[in-house]
This record gives sequence, structure tokens and C-alpha cells, in this order.
Amino acid sequence: MLWTHKDLLGLEDLNKDEIELILSTAESFKEVSTREIKKVPALRGKTVVNLFYEPSTRTRVSFEVAAKRLSADVINVAVETSSVKKGETLIDTGRNIQALKADIIVLRHNRSGSAVLLSRHLDISVVNAGDGWHEHPTQALLDIFTLKEKLGRIAGLNVTIVGDIAHSRVARSNIWGLTKLGAKVIVCAPKMLIPPDIEQMGISVSYNIDDALKNADCVNVLRMQFERDEENAFPKQLEYFKNFGITKERLRNAKKDIIIMHPGPLNRGVEMSSDVADGENSVILEQVTNGIAVRMAVLFLVSQGQMKT
Ligand code: CP
Repeated sequence: MLWTHKDLLGLEDLNKDEIELILSTAESFKEVSTREIKKVPALRGKTVVNLFYEPSTRTRVSFEVAAKRLSADVINVAVETSSVKKGETLIDTGRNIQALKADIIVLRHNRSGSAVLLSRHLDISVVNAGDGWHEHPTQALLDIFTLKEKLGRIAGLNVTIVGDIAHSRVARSNIWGLTKLGAKVIVCAPKMLIPPDIEQMGISVSYNIDDALKNADCVNVLRMQFERDEENAFPKQLEYFKNFGITKERLRNAKKDIIIMHPGPLNRGVEMSSDVADGENSVILEQVTNGIAVRMAVLFLVSQGQMKT
């Protein structure tokens, strides 16, 4: 199977074979990070620009590490001190980065659709590192990669995604990716945090966390995005923890070896208790490590895709 896309904008756009190609490419890149000299020459001579309009720790550092492990040159644009502050548009900023002969822009933006918009105006590759509420494809790919590494397959698994589904690009990308690979997905949250008609994505909805955990092979626990609660309508932190928080007590009725995931950043004592976050079922830090291999795969494949378009 050959990769033919110059960009990675979301998992909605990809078919099962393309998702599996990214995962298998990531598997072969994972070994690089175990070497004494953690580098391969795959992107030597290429330039990757991280253009982040929103705060990020994991995704930004992970893309930088991934690009450097592929021997690319990496430039991080600090949007706060860039000409964005003088009113330059996203498209003009992108065009100027292209004129500076960069090869790949990794974009995080607070507006849904920004990565698609930028990609339409540029010949160089655009990788979506999270756009508004829309998609966060590399987060979902690293979640799926970690789950497959742990359980050996995705098809037929029961995955529960709990938390702020309505505002979550991580949920949306996971739903696209997991369902295309044959997993059964349940989303669980207070009613106000579930978008209407989400069942049309081929998933089930539960408003009861104990029911949603009962048959789950994995629970992916999302961050409560209190900063998006403009109408002050979200449940309060303690109330949320009491009704939806993942605790040792709650997990007593779940499968003994249930996989616990969280994309980060984690609000301890809100989405889950610390003993669960740091406990034996948690793969939270393995997700972060696997993000390097997944992003190496994505950067490598989109650079191959440039030659096909
Ligand atoms: N998971 C995730 O996107 O984390 P950051 O916001 O720190 O990049």
C-alpha cells in the first residue's frame, strides 16, 4: 500500500488501509528511540515548522522529537512573538513559511477547519496537530497504536470514551479511527457534553459510567475542558468526579485488565483519581512515548505523499 496524501488533516479522510499503514510504519520507527544514537536519515534536508496557536506540551515536543529523530531541521514558531500578533492571517503566515522553503507545517489552532483551510492554500504538507473541536488525528493514532500494542488487535474491542465529548477533537478522531478498524465505541458523559446525533458516527451513547465500563477493554478518559465553558454550564469539578470520575472503586466492576488511557493534560481528582492515573492499568505515559513513533510515521509518510501530488 502506497501513501498518496501530502497532508494529514483528520482520520475521517482516511480509509482502514491508510490508518493501518501509519500504524505499521510507526511500529518500524519505534525501535529508533531505543538506539544509543536515536536518529535515522529519512528526512535529512527537510524542514519541519511547528506552528502552534494554542498551548501544548506533549504534541509540540513530540513532533519536534519525531522530526529530529528523522534528521529533519525543526523550527518552532512562537506565535506570541510572531507577526500573527500584528494581524497576519493564517494563510499569509503559511505562505511565508512556504516561501522560506519549509517542507511540512505542523499546525495547532483553536479554530475547527484551520488545517484544511491552510492545506488548500499551500503546496507543502500540513499536519493537523489539533484544530478546535474538529480532529486531533495524531493523538488518536497514538491511542490506537498503544491499544493495539497492549491487546494485539483493534477489531472487536469495546472502547469507552468518557468526558467532554462535545468539545473534544480527541474523541472525534478516536471515533473515526476505532470504528474504521472495527472496534465498538461507547461515549459516556453528562447529557450536555454529548453532541446530538453522535450515534450517526456508528457508536453508542451512555449516561451512566458504571454501565459504560462494564464490558470495556479500554477506557479513554478525556480532559474536562473547563476553559471552553463560556456559559458556566458544565458540572462543577467535584460533581463531575462523583458521577463520572474513574476511581479504583468504580473499576471493581470493570474487566480486571481494562486499559486506562488519557490524552493529557490530566486533571487529577476530576477525571480520575491519582491511584488510577498512576496504577497498573494506566498506559498514559506509554501513550506519550508511542506518540514519537506515530509522529515519525506521519511526517515520513506525508513527505512521501508530496511526491505523488
Ligand atoms: N494531548 C495533547 O494534545 O496534549 P498537549 O495539549 O499538551 O499537546
